[in-house]
Amino acid sequence: MNDMIRLIKPHISFDDIRNDFEDIFKTGMHTKGKHVKAFTEEFCAYTGAKHCVFTTSATTALWTCLKLLNIGEGDEVLVADFSFPASANVVEDLGAKPVFVDVSLDTYNICPKNLKKKITNKTKAVMFVDALGNPTGLHDIQDICTAHNIPLIEDAACGIGSHENGIKVGNIADITCFSFHPRKLMCTGEGGAITTNNDEWAQWLKRKMDHGADGIKGIALDFKDYGYNFRLPEIASVMGRKQLPMLDDVIKTRIAIQKSYDKGLKPLGYKVQMVGENAFHNIQSLAFMVPDDVNRDDLIHYLRDNNIESTIGTYCLSGTTYYANKYNDIQPNSNILFERVITLPCFPGVDTNYIIETISNYKSKAAA
Ligand SMILES: Cc1ncc(COP(=O)(O)O)c(C=O)c1O
Repeated sequence: MNDMIRLIKPHISFDDIRNDFEDIFKTGMHTKGKHVKAFTEEFCAYTGAKHCVFTTSATTALWTCLKLLNIGEGDEVLVADFSFPASANVVEDLGAKPVFVDVSLDTYNICPKNLKKKITNKTKAVMFVDALGNPTGLHDIQDICTAHNIPLIEDAACGIGSHENGIKVGNIADITCFSFHPRKLMCTGEGGAITTNNDEWAQWLKRKMDHGADGIKGIALDFKDYGYNFRLPEIASVMGRKQLPMLDDVIKTRIAIQKSYDKGLKPLGYKVQMVGENAFHNIQSLAFMVPDDVNRDDLIHYLRDNNIESTIGTYCLSGTTYYANKYNDIQPNSNILFERVITLPCFPGVDTNYIIETISNYKSKAAA
């Protein structure tokens, strides 16, 4: 039997990191060492952001940003509805209300019209999500937030390497959060980052991630605030450092693979995720909307029976059991995308011809 074609394959091997790992084990420098320091500088250089603070995940990053903005009970945060539940969970956890904003069926992102309808005097922040890595419309949303004096948090868990108007994600929104989970384009096991150009925010974040410590008092740490330990370890930083220089090539390959799928699937009625004229999408997930006459869930099963791994795009947050029960405010476009988007395998050397042929066989089988 043939091996399953996986959705994604890691871009680094153990050989790439062996020497640095050995060094960390020999020296015992597992935390707050040279790799996290260098990775911080390299991440700023790559994104163009003035400051970067690493964390343990995008979820920790988003949660800490809400704490930074003092968001809590009685506050509302406008959240893009087509996303992974972490985007809304962090708002809910702090006692604020996530107000779901519907998305475009083309880009899968929130748009100015939908956002403006939901702004009230309780709105304390907006959370834009680069849906599946797509930054389209981010500048427009930032402009609206600036005009209303509302901070914009970008959930760029999937967005590393994407850009709009020639500016990289990480240097557009007021504050940006990234993920280094294994399904993302850069994997450090678990991990995340926050970037911002705001000096005060960066200083607050650095302290909070490190128990509130900032500098030295006498011979010991000076705890200028209370805080947490959300630090990224050295081992994870090595993994990140090895992948960052490869990232642009990885993205180029993914774009070529997307073109190859689009050529074969467009004539079958599959619609690729759209990207704005001035936007550049990292293709973190390679997604298509299935035609009306295709049942997406059946197709995923059929592909699995043919040794092809595929999955949904992402979730309609307002339609998840918890949020639907609590707020009863399901967003229609997001729900359509939840039911009809499919993510297909994307890695160097993937046999797109076989996958396209299998999808086209499914269609004829369904129609028979
Ligand atoms: C849009 C989005 N936000 C947040 C997260 C959470 O990321 P992490 O697993 O790093 O906490 C994910 C993870 O898939 C995501 O896709």
